[in-house]
Amino acid sequence: MGFDTIIANGRVVTATDTYASDVAISGGKVNAIGQSLPRQNAGKIIDAARKNVLPGGIDVHTHLDMPFGGTRSADDFETGTRAAAFGGTTTLIDFAIQYKGQSLRTAFDTWMQKASGKAVCDYSFHCIITDLQNAQLDEMNALVREGVTSFKLFMAYPGVFMLDDGSIFKALQATSKNGGLVCMHAENGSAIDVIVQQALAEGKKAPKYHALTRPTTAEAEATARAIALAEMAGAPVYIVHLSCNDALEKVREARDRGLPVYAETCPQYLYLSIDNFDAPGFEGAKYVFTPPLREKWHQEKLWNGLKRDHLQVVSTDHCPFCFKEQKELGRDDFTKIPNGGPGIEHRMSLIYSGGVAQGRFSVNRFVELVSTTPAKLFGLYPRKGTIAVGSDADLVIFDPDRKHTISAKTHHMRVDYSMFEGIKVTGMPDVVLSRGSVIIEGDKFLGRPGAGDFLKRSLYSQQ
Ligand code: URP
Ligand code: ZN
Ligand code: ZN
Repeated sequence: MGFDTIIANGRVVTATDTYASDVAISGGKVNAIGQSLPRQNAGKIIDAARKNVLPGGIDVHTHLDMPFGGTRSADDFETGTRAAAFGGTTTLIDFAIQYKGQSLRTAFDTWMQKASGKAVCDYSFHCIITDLQNAQLDEMNALVREGVTSFKLFMAYPGVFMLDDGSIFKALQATSKNGGLVCMHAENGSAIDVIVQQALAEGKKAPKYHALTRPTTAEAEATARAIALAEMAGAPVYIVHLSCNDALEKVREARDRGLPVYAETCPQYLYLSIDNFDAPGFEGAKYVFTPPLREKWHQEKLWNGLKRDHLQVVSTDHCPFCFKEQKELGRDDFTKIPNGGPGIEHRMSLIYSGGVAQGRFSVNRFVELVSTTPAKLFGLYPRKGTIAVGSDADLVIFDPDRKHTISAKTHHMRVDYSMFEGIKVTGMPDVVLSRGSVIIEGDKFLGRPGAGDFLKRSLYSQQ
């Protein structure tokens, strides 16, 4: 009996190594790694000469089919996972939202329904907690036992998602015992709300005021508070969508003290800035998401944070709303613009291009940021996040030299604009495999809605 598939002649890249090798796949798993593996009886041979063979990307922050501000994010689990796959992402962790008065179980069941039969690649969920009573504290333990091992809490959006510090502290105490991981949206929502109301009263209603009413200090203060609460609870904490140097400094200080504090940033904070709000007319609405875009100088600080391991992960916070029909809801008032931007498709290319091709960090660090550390922190490693015998054959044959200009005209996300329109990247996926099946070949989608499995995750493990 031969292998199902051999990826031949490629350059295998993991978080630690780069070497020339074939990779053989059987039963959806990596079965052998070595030079000149026997080709006879192989079901299929894919030539990867001059290409990198990477573990599939893992995006731990997406919002597919998510209700927000009277509408819902434009990609569902079929279109969103398909676009992710085109970009080399083969696993994502989305968010199941508990609304006030609901059980966490209801949230989980609702999001399982949204994904089942639709996802083209594997997925899992963090649970967003917006109402934490004793019953939900018990449910947190039950969910962790069932493989939902992370929770997102909000320090922003008072009256909608925000939890008070006491509840946040209780949730952190729970994870310190049950082994889960709290992901924190760190912005001081109460102060921001005051600034927002004052801006509206002064007639400041254009999209740019979304950014101008959410200062970097509000993010830094909440980041420091999240870290302090986690330290008091003896729990790890993961700061989501970190956007600015002020917050980065808080994470760096905590990590220097040896605390289990982690943070992700997203491509929009590395490539875009508050200058994007100079776009004509209402176009600035395309860049309304939280935390907001910052002054340009923060970008290099974030790239440096990725290089120096002050930041550990790049996710997308993909939360697309169409410009024409959805962002439009806030034409007369920036607070009514649905918050979020599209990005699930281009994370790998944007980070390879800006990180590796532009010489900021190694290709191994790139793999660590977009695949290996996400897998380790969120309990998917070594099934996902590396190329090793026994790991899932989620693999990307990545052409490090292929150039591409990002555009809404060619992207696969179900949204009518690109935040990265016109940006030129170097490095694109050629072939993408999910558990051994080729799902992307060039510009062809060969996958199947429903082929993606829900992933039960292990406990967070300290990195
Ligand atoms: O604006 C954003 N980021 N929308 C998605 C929800 C969140 O806070 O991550
Ligand atoms: Zn958030
Ligand atoms: Zn988000």
